[in-house]
Amino acid sequence: MGAIILNGKEISQEIRKDLKAKVDELKQNGLHPGLAVVLVGNDPASRIYVNNKKKACEEIGIRSFEYILPEKTTEEELIQLVETLNKDNSVHGILVQLPLPKHIDAENVLLRISPDKDVDSFHPFNMGRVMIGDYYFLPCTPAGIMELLIRSGINLVGKECVVVGRSNIVGKPIAMLLLHSNATVTICHSKTRNLKEICRRADVLVVAVGKPKFINADYVKDGAVVIDVGINRLEDGKICGDVDFDSVSEKASYITPVPGGVGPMTITMLLKNTIMSAELSRQ
Ligand SMILES: NC(=O)c1ccc[n+]([C@@H]2O[C@H](COP(=O)([O-])OP(=O)(O)OC[C@H]3O[C@@H](n4cnc5c(N)ncnc54)[C@H](OP(=O)(O)O)[C@@H]3O)[C@@H](O)[C@H]2O)c1
Repeated sequence: MGAIILNGKEISQEIRKDLKAKVDELKQNGLHPGLAVVLVGNDPASRIYVNNKKKACEEIGIRSFEYILPEKTTEEELIQLVETLNKDNSVHGILVQLPLPKHIDAENVLLRISPDKDVDSFHPFNMGRVMIGDYYFLPCTPAGIMELLIRSGINLVGKECVVVGRSNIVGKPIAMLLLHSNATVTICHSKTRNLKEICRRADVLVVAVGKPKFINADYVKDGAVVIDVGINRLEDGKICGDVDFDSVSEKASYITPVPGGVGPMTITMLLKNTIMSAELSRQ
């Protein structure tokens, strides 16, 4: 029997409908949520991501401010722009698209974004809050995964969850959120021994590795929930995940497709964070 598809595209449309209603209500009360997106250089993939975010903002009525800076922009110039946006009352969220050119220290730049406008939740202050479970912003991809699980009625209490990948933007925070949901969590990485055996224990397997079709059916227990975070562009231009969808979907109970799974949820959570930030600016 095949797995049930966790349709991130459909679920995110439902959420965006509610978010649009929220934006309409805020605008009627004189508050127009705004997101500033900053892109440095000409990376084509980043350009696509920025355009998608801009389009998603427009669709639900969030104002978007786009800053496309030349590749040679200095770290100081970029920080100056961030500081200006920090003070701008019409901007409620600031997103600096990664990766930045090599001559700019991304950590330095992200540290300068006001934690109140840090809608990506990459600032150490917000990361720390996620760690202790007392947060207002959640990083968008982990938040999107949790929404998918919750809205699909997947109960996490006492479940064995395995996260493959320990990045600051996906692996570590999703592990924390699963833990806060009372799951038992194991985090794996490139130095993990017996990866296959550990993955086969998982009731819920989250894969964020960045390697096409890395996880096949041998890594998956019968009936597991499999969340594929990976976005890999193949030579033929097609996008594929970190999970071998065809074989794993035969074994799993639920699975996210790529594209159309975690990706759309990530952008939706960015919209949600921007609206939340606008509301918080009033308090
Ligand atoms: N859907 C979305 O919205 C979304 C958002 C963000 C990222 N992504 C995608 O998700 C993927 C992961 O992103 P990321 O930023 O988390 O990547 P990352 O920073 O490159 O981290 C990859 C992680 O995978 C681990 N890893 C690499 N090879 C491994 C192996 N052979 N066995 C076990 N673990 C291994 C690495 O371990 P070490 O720490 O030991 O090196 C690292 O922790 C990428 O494809 C990215 O494009 C998607």
